Amino acid sequence: MTLIHETDFGTPASKSEKLVTLTIDGQSISVPEGTSIMRAAMEMGTKIPKLCATDMVDAFGSCRLCLVEIEGRPGTPASCTTPVSPGLNVKTQTPRLKQLRKGVMELYISDHPLDCLTCAANGDCELQDMAGAVGLREVRYGMDGANHFKPDSPLAMPKDESNPYFTYDPAKCIVCSRCVRACEEVQGTFALTIEGRGFDSRVSPGQHEAFLDSDCVSCGACVQACPTATLQEKSVIEIGQPEHSVVTTCAYCGVGCAFKAEMRGDELVRMVPYKDGKANRGHSCVKGRFAWGYATHKERILSPMIRDSIDQPWREVGWQEAIGFAANRLKAIQARYGRDSIGGITSSRCTNEETFLVQKLIRAGFGTNNVDTCARVCHSPTGYGLKTTFGTSAGTQDFDSVEHTDVVVVIGANPTDGHPVFASRLKKRLRQGAKLIVIDPRRIDLVKSPHIKAEVHLPLLPGTNVAIVTALAHVIVTEGLVDEVFVRERCDWAEFQEWAAFLSEPRNSPDIVGPMAGVEPDAIRHAARLFATGGNGAIYYGLGVTEHSQGTTTVMAIANLAMATGNIGRPGVGVNPLRGQNNVQGACDMGSFPHEFSGYRHVSDDATRQMFEELWGVPLSGDPGLRIPNMLDAAVDGSFKGLYVQGEDILQSDPNTHHVAAGLAAMECVIVQDLFLNETANYAHVFLPGCTFLEKDGTFTNAERRIQRVRRVMAPKNGYADWEVTLLLARAMGFEMDYAHPSQIMDEIAKVTPSFKGVSYQRLEEMGSIQWPCNDKAPLGTPVMHIDGFVRGKGKFVITEYIPTEERTGARFPLLLTTGRILSQYNVGAQTRRTANVVWHEEDRLEIHPHDAENRGICDGDWIKLQSRSGETALRALITDRVAPGVVYTTFHHPDTQANVITTDYSDWATNCPEYKVTAVQVSPSNGPTPWQQEYEAQAQRSRRIEGHAVEAAE
Ligand code: FES
Repeated sequence: MTLIHETDFGTPASKSEKLVTLTIDGQSISVPEGTSIMRAAMEMGTKIPKLCATDMVDAFGSCRLCLVEIEGRPGTPASCTTPVSPGLNVKTQTPRLKQLRKGVMELYISDHPLDCLTCAANGDCELQDMAGAVGLREVRYGMDGANHFKPDSPLAMPKDESNPYFTYDPAKCIVCSRCVRACEEVQGTFALTIEGRGFDSRVSPGQHEAFLDSDCVSCGACVQACPTATLQEKSVIEIGQPEHSVVTTCAYCGVGCAFKAEMRGDELVRMVPYKDGKANRGHSCVKGRFAWGYATHKERILSPMIRDSIDQPWREVGWQEAIGFAANRLKAIQARYGRDSIGGITSSRCTNEETFLVQKLIRAGFGTNNVDTCARVCHSPTGYGLKTTFGTSAGTQDFDSVEHTDVVVVIGANPTDGHPVFASRLKKRLRQGAKLIVIDPRRIDLVKSPHIKAEVHLPLLPGTNVAIVTALAHVIVTEGLVDEVFVRERCDWAEFQEWAAFLSEPRNSPDIVGPMAGVEPDAIRHAARLFATGGNGAIYYGLGVTEHSQGTTTVMAIANLAMATGNIGRPGVGVNPLRGQNNVQGACDMGSFPHEFSGYRHVSDDATRQMFEELWGVPLSGDPGLRIPNMLDAAVDGSFKGLYVQGEDILQSDPNTHHVAAGLAAMECVIVQDLFLNETANYAHVFLPGCTFLEKDGTFTNAERRIQRVRRVMAPKNGYADWEVTLLLARAMGFEMDYAHPSQIMDEIAKVTPSFKGVSYQRLEEMGSIQWPCNDKAPLGTPVMHIDGFVRGKGKFVITEYIPTEERTGARFPLLLTTGRILSQYNVGAQTRRTANVVWHEEDRLEIHPHDAENRGICDGDWIKLQSRSGETALRALITDRVAPGVVYTTFHHPDTQANVITTDYSDWATNCPEYKVTAVQVSPSNGPTPWQQEYEAQAQRSRRIEGHAVEAAE
């Protein structure tokens, strides 16, 4: 079997509606205007030989293999770059063309190593295929090309193996430029160039650097584009060519990239971005494409473990014993302390079906609404804010929408690191001329990168989002830039007037807000005018908006801004939360919050509750349960005693690490279900091994509300899929749940959740993916929301009074710390730290402005102590002017740094989402790790020994 790259089907067809009729090889064909002759021929089943053309990139006609003859025109034009025109008479197969193509191939082959039989690409090489297609038998010019030098010759080109995931063998390069173009057009990084001339010309990363040292971001687009084995996955070289594949969905960020998991036998060989994936359109990032090795990492726990108390060593047991132990403990706790003394936490990493089951187990099996999810600490303000203003707890657009955007606002998000595949699409639109406004304390890559420059960057002080967005609205209102037609028709006019009066107050003007937020007033005015008058305006935001004491207020201020400018309800506009985790949207949709059933219906709503009671056969509580921080508070107070945590490491991801540890330590039964012994498991009594996404069947819902299938690539290594483990626990608790396959769980979700009414696995198979709401009104789903009216009826303007956080800088803590992610790592790093991605980020570092560093006597790479009112940690300094004076920044991927030791207890007023993005700190020179970090490292070493033992025992 030959695996054909999804993208290798020639240049894309034109989107024009006007048809052009021409004749190809005597056959008449009509195709849209602008279609290339190559594509037109392909439409009628004629494959013209080609090398440099691929529909990943625009055709550029360099290989000259796709020549055709056109009646009445001189020469033999390249069919990939020649558009159709009416009445053309084209010949694709003539003796002259055959001769010319053979000649072209002879030149290529004369400069290509003749090692096909030992080459990793054998069977998946377009050069090999084309040599066959043109009938090349012999090479008249001899084998004098530079690439025929023996490997030990001083003229031989060395192979670059610096990248951990792919090799670059210049000897095999045919200089077709596909990789260079893919890097530019698809990824937008411009890391590759062609250097040299003639036989000496080669692809070069950067200024003749090794791939690892260059600007390459390892997205894999160049490897995918390469028609030979010049750029080749190391896994293919090691394992061999894949034999079969399964389409599934990535489990990293909220973009939700579709991939073909390509297998050889039971072994995963590579993940290839799926061209028909509507979220990623055939693109990928270094995490989804390459960082899947954690699935088979030796530290993965595959057998259940229990212990009576957390100071005892783990004891490996069978599934039945572990489940029985967990259920007995939970039942005993409830018998002693009451029904509400236990609860659970669902995971945004798990599937919709798994999450739905866990909340069902807790509500119906445990008999309490004490269920919460990790969205609590990231996007809960998005749900609250957008439901209040628009009526739906979700973003308004699909990712395709960005192709119609004229002005993009990116606020509190760093897409090139956090959501890289979407960032590539955004950058493409910016290169086409869309304008960009960045609102971020840091000079993120989008502010200035190859061929992109933000029109405005507002480097606001952390904690001033509400003031700045309100000041933007002030300019729009006071300068008469409101889209009054839209507002009168679509929004509550009285509320708008009240809001406009509030905004017009001088305290909301750029002149007052600017100096307070550290931003030039004129820059605020410029940004506001641009957004209001520049055409389709879209706002994209991330955790830099939500993780604040006024996170919900900023979300509502953003919604106000979109409504006031009429930027809602059509492609190219909208309010777009860039979700952090792969299924954070789904986890929220599935009823993971203590006050809401699936579909965001309050537990106190009698009709909804009765429907669930009838279906599940048990009475349900109408009282909202505890949120995660309240569970921990109650545990410290002694009234909350048992917790089931699926796929979440709350000790590392939740604020105030000491308080989380105290809460967990006070419980009598903590059940952790995960891949690895995470930090929370240090306080657990039961460890239930979890599955990776490669072992799951189910669905994820991405940031566009797009529901996509996750398909099992390999059997669960731990014996059970996660949903089956939940069933076992439910049964042991005395609550029967009966499903034979996750599709049946989805059928139940559809039955009880209005926005999922039309969703089924069968429809997902037919459509590929569906964006909810999918129901009788929208049977094919809803790419863009609020088209004819807001879900809540009239759009609601909310007054967004700026109330500064209580976290203040002062003499002791004069700097503001804010946090974020880096491209190669993911959240607390549980997966990515167990892959070769660590070569790009071995440790968290503190970014500090040269001025602040100099004042403290700190040099680049020095150990520093980072201290706040909550705690202290030590890490090394990275001196950079990406941060303004007075602001420092770090990532939170490594548990031995634990930025959450530093962060405060402040949280969003509406949702309790922690204020991770604003902490007053002091930075001072240090000799190395703090005492707690040294203790942590000692503990980690002990844990690794236990993990090693557990793995050995399992084997
Ligand atoms: Fe047309 Fe290369 S495929 S010139």
